[in-house]
Amino acid sequence: MTPTRILLLVTGGIAAYKACLLARLLKQAGFSVKVAMTEAATRFVTPMTFQVLSENPVATDLWGEGQSDALDHIEYARWADLTVVAPATANIMAKAAAGIGDDMVSTLLLAFPGPLLMAPAMNDNMWAHAATQANRETLAGRGVAFVGPGTGFLACRTESTGRMAEPEEILAAVKEMAAVLPARAEEADQPPAAPGYWAGQDVVVTAGPTHEPLDPVRYLANRSSGAMGYALATAAAAQGARVTLISGPTDLPAPRGLARVVAVQTAREMADAVATSLEQGPHWLMMAAAVADFALAQPLAGKMKKEDVGEHWELSLVRNPDILGEVVPRHRQSGLKVLGFALETDDLRNRALAKRRAKGMDYIVANDPTAPGAGFGPGRHQVMLLGEAGDIWASESLPKPELAARLLNQLAHAEESS
Ligand code: C5P
Repeated sequence: MTPTRILLLVTGGIAAYKACLLARLLKQAGFSVKVAMTEAATRFVTPMTFQVLSENPVATDLWGEGQSDALDHIEYARWADLTVVAPATANIMAKAAAGIGDDMVSTLLLAFPGPLLMAPAMNDNMWAHAATQANRETLAGRGVAFVGPGTGFLACRTESTGRMAEPEEILAAVKEMAAVLPARAEEADQPPAAPGYWAGQDVVVTAGPTHEPLDPVRYLANRSSGAMGYALATAAAAQGARVTLISGPTDLPAPRGLARVVAVQTAREMADAVATSLEQGPHWLMMAAAVADFALAQPLAGKMKKEDVGEHWELSLVRNPDILGEVVPRHRQSGLKVLGFALETDDLRNRALAKRRAKGMDYIVANDPTAPGAGFGPGRHQVMLLGEAGDIWASESLPKPELAARLLNQLAHAEESS
């Protein structure tokens, strides 16, 4: 496989010198790197430095004399799999939010349709300014991922927030995003999905277990880690979807680039959050959460004391709302596509097919966590994707981020050919 291609956009801040180290770290990590710089950035670091580090010509000027095709901004935007703006000034954030393309870097940002990571760096007041914060929110709402800024010693000689994330931290974010990039059309083991099926789709993903309280300190739960739902949310956002993640309690960090993350504890809270999200008219609902089927009707207000329980504690549980089966039909607007999950340890395929029909899902992912190459947690997993017409895809055992990206490709195909 050819290396992932990173377009590094350097804008005019003193942190531009740290972008040199980032370019080197990216190369050392095996990425292909091309760099474009704003005019202001060239006042801090010369294009020659980046040319040497990236081993590629550096784009600086839209109108440059004798510019080769390789420096054409459309070509650069087409070439890249992932774009990183480091450092990202308040100015480039404002231009990107407004869609202004008046130099090489801002024009590249308009021309590049893929995943974008920004590492802001600026004076603390500029970062705190309402305009910058509004621009950050606009960009995050479009799926742009951010790393930093951190707190530390700024060039303006204050100790405050606005310092660019360290190159190592940016590299880690790039690796995380690169792990869920869809396979390039020329390398995929299937015909390419129509470019950008997921771009602009509103996708609601549920993930993780739910916790059903018994008393203020005890709860009923299951072994779901949330890894599959988080991987789906991350992969959909990386492909341009506006993702709302409704998550039960997990130990996972919130994925980058999501439009919204709603944290819930119980099945009832998850049902309410799903119902509220469906009112926004999303295109997709992906129910990857392992919603608890039962809860204590009336959790105790104070901690149950063992002395009061004696030798046996009999719990009387009641059914939780079936979100897919009962809640979704009440809030389902026309055109909503629903993907559910079936976790079974025997007769997987038939049970999944029956569940899909019974709960009115368009697609179902059937998985057996006890099968070899599959399981709970962050590791590998193996699934079957089933739809109206039966089998769509049987995956091999894959790391969950890759599995999620491949699942999205399969869904895009299934939709395009339906
Ligand atoms: O019936 P079962 O729980 O196996 O169905 C699994 C699918 O239904 C999953 O997509 C899960 O998120 C969803 N589910 C639900 N509400 C529940 C239980 C499960 O929507 N109370």
